[in-house]
Amino acid sequence: MIQPRFADLLDRVMGLDAALIGVSAVDRAVAARIRACDLPDEEAYWALLQQAPGEVQALIETVVIPETWFFRDSAAFDAMVKLCAPRLADGSPPLRILSLPSSTGEEPYSIAMALLEAGWPAGRFHIDGVDISNRALTLARRGIYGRNAFRSPDLGFRDRHFEPVEREWRLKDAVRGCVHFAQGNMLDPGFLAGAAPYDVIFCRNLLIYFDAATQGRAVAVLRRLLAPKGLLLAGHSESGVVSAHGFASAQISMAFAFRRAEAPEPAKAAPKPAPAALAKPLKRAPVSRPAAPRPAVKISQPAPPPAPGLESLWTLLDSGRLEEAERACQTHIRTHGASADALMIQGLIADARGDAAGAAAAYRKVLYLDPDHGEAIGHLALLLRKQGDHARADLLTRRLTRQTGKVS
Ligand SMILES: C[S@@+](CC[C@H](N)C(=O)[O-])C[C@H]1O[C@@H](n2cnc3c(N)ncnc32)[C@H](O)[C@@H]1O
Repeated sequence: MIQPRFADLLDRVMGLDAALIGVSAVDRAVAARIRACDLPDEEAYWALLQQAPGEVQALIETVVIPETWFFRDSAAFDAMVKLCAPRLADGSPPLRILSLPSSTGEEPYSIAMALLEAGWPAGRFHIDGVDISNRALTLARRGIYGRNAFRSPDLGFRDRHFEPVEREWRLKDAVRGCVHFAQGNMLDPGFLAGAAPYDVIFCRNLLIYFDAATQGRAVAVLRRLLAPKGLLLAGHSESGVVSAHGFASAQISMAFAFRRAEAPEPAKAAPKPAPAALAKPLKRAPVSRPAAPRPAVKISQPAPPPAPGLESLWTLLDSGRLEEAERACQTHIRTHGASADALMIQGLIADARGDAAGAAAAYRKVLYLDPDHGEAIGHLALLLRKQGDHARADLLTRRLTRQTGKVS
């Protein structure tokens, strides 16, 4: 086992909480770098890290988890388009959007495709994609993607915006030209200093790798970068973090969209769309609610309140009210039975509360009921990867890729 000083260094520099991705993942990264640098042992590698800042970046490249895909959690893109619609024709300066972290580009390019398809001319918006990993950014700028990047059930966008090259797809220049990539560590004191405020920030699936103190610092950075009435899109496991740090849910089902708590309610700035119009779950069947069992004899006591429906569970999860969401989910499952949808929500709640074991157990139950449930496969793979179990995560990701291949 490698000494904790390497994990401490990564925590200090990039906020990585080694306990979350598994100490063995850090050990493997350090061992890989010792081999790559042809050094005798970790002592020599530690000395190199002190002298060569480039080697710190190389170590970072080895531990980052660049997992992403086009239109991941697609309700966020729908919410952005709906809430920004009033800006399209009001003559205001171009919409400024930040994808942080942008990883290999799938997220910022999805933003661009969503806006172009909603009728936004390219000159009316500006998208920055920022990530700590140069390797991820190189792939992002290249704009060529394999099947793993296409995991959403509706792949119509691939036909419209990509052209096939051998066994991969190349993004057309019209979309590539909309995104400006830059390398940056969001925890650096000078991060994006002097940048004009952003109207929309996507910060998804990064805060989950930080410990509580670093999460607080990171949300403060987002607050600094976001325009006063701007929109922040978080990952679903991160809604609790942002709502604990002065952001209020925009109350859009499954979008995990937030405004600064003191800003006017978004529903007043733009009409709140019907949840069904925004919610495009990956694999979500219509909710069938069994009729409440009829009592054999008439009793005069007031009927208990009806068990919460799936829609209200999503709303609670969305707004970061995790304890309430958990209680409501248990009531829902007791009353309606354990459907794949309800168990998926239970897993997401556990994930958001940092309960990895509970989340994994719930995702496994989803897969027992629905072995092709793409969302559950994706989340379980991510959890396993965070725990350093890359072999089983790879197996699941391959299963997801095969499944996506089938629907494409
Ligand atoms: C799981 S990906 C998320 C990508 C995308 N936002 C999504 O949700 O699909 C996490 C990314 O965070 C980046 N990252 C990790 N620490 C960072 C930091 N301190 N500053 C900026 N990016 C960071 C990694 O390089 C990796 O590409």
